[in-house]
Amino acid sequence: MDKRKVLVTSALPYANGPIHLGHLAGAYLPADIFARYCRLLGRDVIYICGTDEHGVPITLTADREGVSPQEVVDRWFVHIRDSFAGAGISFDHFSRTSLPVHHRTSQDFFLKIHEQGLLVKKTERQLYCARCARFLPDRYVEGTCHNCRTEGAKGDQCESCGKPIDPLLLIDPLCKLCGSVPEARETEHWYMPLDRFQPWLEEWFSRPDKQGWKENVLSFCRGYLAEGLKERAVTRDLDWGVPVPLSGTAGKVLYVWFDAPIGYISSTKEWAEQQGAPERWKDYWCDTENTRLVHFIGKDNIFFHALMFPAMLKAYNDNPSAEVQWVLPDNVPANEYLNLEGLKFSTSRNFAVWLADYLERFEPDPLRYYLCSNMPETRDTDFNLKEFQAHNNNELADTVGNFINRTLTFVERYFDGRVPERGVPDDLDREMLERLAAAGPAVGGCIDTFRFRAAADTFGEFARFCNKYFNDKAPWQSRKDDPAACASTLNLCVQACYALSVAMWPVMPFSAEKLWAQLGVPEDWRSHPWDQDFSAALPAGHSLGKVEVLFPKVEDSLIEAQSASLGKSRAGGTRREETQMETIDIGQFGKVDIRVALVRAAEEVPRSRSLIRLELDLGELGSRTVAAGIKGHYEPAELVGRKVLVAANLEPRKVMGIESQGMVLAAVHGESLSLCTLDSKFDLPPGTRIS
Ligand code: 2FM
Ligand code: ZN
Repeated sequence: MDKRKVLVTSALPYANGPIHLGHLAGAYLPADIFARYCRLLGRDVIYICGTDEHGVPITLTADREGVSPQEVVDRWFVHIRDSFAGAGISFDHFSRTSLPVHHRTSQDFFLKIHEQGLLVKKTERQLYCARCARFLPDRYVEGTCHNCRTEGAKGDQCESCGKPIDPLLLIDPLCKLCGSVPEARETEHWYMPLDRFQPWLEEWFSRPDKQGWKENVLSFCRGYLAEGLKERAVTRDLDWGVPVPLSGTAGKVLYVWFDAPIGYISSTKEWAEQQGAPERWKDYWCDTENTRLVHFIGKDNIFFHALMFPAMLKAYNDNPSAEVQWVLPDNVPANEYLNLEGLKFSTSRNFAVWLADYLERFEPDPLRYYLCSNMPETRDTDFNLKEFQAHNNNELADTVGNFINRTLTFVERYFDGRVPERGVPDDLDREMLERLAAAGPAVGGCIDTFRFRAAADTFGEFARFCNKYFNDKAPWQSRKDDPAACASTLNLCVQACYALSVAMWPVMPFSAEKLWAQLGVPEDWRSHPWDQDFSAALPAGHSLGKVEVLFPKVEDSLIEAQSASLGKSRAGGTRREETQMETIDIGQFGKVDIRVALVRAAEEVPRSRSLIRLELDLGELGSRTVAAGIKGHYEPAELVGRKVLVAANLEPRKVMGIESQGMVLAAVHGESLSLCTLDSKFDLPPGTRIS
């Protein structure tokens, strides 16, 4: 057995929204299966993750919601952590990058590289919004892609052609916050000279261990190396992030992709602290000979995990005053994408199966098994609800569950719930014995080499064999004709149930633990090492537990409900607000000044997908301009002359260049939106207060 310690990581998700099944299949489920398998083998393994709490996606969400970035990440950290727990993702530690330990660790990293004179400081022109008085890094600017001419390209990368964007070359750039046209101004930034690490990276990629890397990852990296690596900015003009640890750098933070991978280290430090062994993180991160560092990620993260982070680790290690030497990644098994019903998952269009939503309707294990069988290992794959249902009903309920249930009820009924004696094996029994010996290594060998689909297939194939064995042996018949043979058959079937339970645990941990209860064995995984002889795990006479159905069928109605919610609900967003009501006292309610307003004029806001600009008459309160997110639901012309309700004492806020001086009230249900209007019984004048 490979005696090395194993340090497993999954990409740190942005604390900016819920987790969907595409995320789960890409970077979390495979890591969890692998980490669980290592645990069953008795390897010294820790599985580390946390939320990525910096970066422009988060500050943009905060700007949009009018709250602080800290509020955004606090909310999503809890939501994401709980969703993963519900899906059985068994992190040893789940941390967050806004913690002081992470800021310290990242700043130390920056300084260790900077001290060697490696980082290049450059004065350069970047887009600046004079109206917002700020630079516009990354997604703060949008425009037409200079590579492929697609409109609405974000300032970091074009989603259409996938190429990086140079914001200065963006055609018709606009400030994402206020919609005005930015100008170029000079600013100073630090760059990581990846070109200087090219020879080392080429040598590193030519080492023999890379033969165990996935072809998609290798060819991606070789492509970058062939083009020649370029320097990369590692700082940004933002006020949210890890401050640059140099004097005279107020308003500058580390680029989120510089600090995020360091999050794996700081999360491990926090884990060690909580273990009461604060130095223990070094056992994994700094034992370069004896640790395998395995990063599970989606394909969009390959550059930063397989090129940039290794170069950062190497740069740190090269510092003669470095107190530690970091282990380099042993493997980066990146997955391709999971699509949904033939289309890409889309957070912005809310076209996704959100993990938290899924878990409200279904059990986690059937999903884990389906995603494992259908993992986007070497190419994009598709999540299809009907296929998921069929997979559950045919494979789990009718094959695996059926065999287990037939075996255990038979033993309960005819052998008083005790494992029967085994006699002399016949040919079929011998085949079962061979398969029992081979089942663990066969499934495990696939997991160990990141072939999760093959692991699920091997498991399924073994379950099918077990079912066939039960049928071919016809114990209901031998019970009458040859009781000893019947006992022998059931003995082997019970051992097969046990083999299935252990082989099942990495992929379907909840069901494995239920099955352990039914088999009358400890429900703790530590009691079930992988490399045992499954053919005699449960001795004759051993008492089984209570038999229950392990894998119920998934009904059509549940699939239809899940399907209907595609594109409608967003876990952690609307759904949470609809179901969890926070109470306020009447005084708080009284503070909101809602008035009747007459729409005098209405026009669509150019370049905005959702806004209509309304000129409102509020009687004695005068007129107001409001940017209302109702485009697509109403034509501007049909609004003029209508009376609407408006929250009139909100702090004015800038939306797409318009100062919006209130909020028009509307009822929203799924895709439908209806403005709140007055009962037509009385014609109340504009400005009338609602109370
Ligand atoms: O793509 C993402 O969601 C990033 N937050 C992944 C970061 S992985 C690591 F470097 F932290
Ligand atoms: Zn602006």
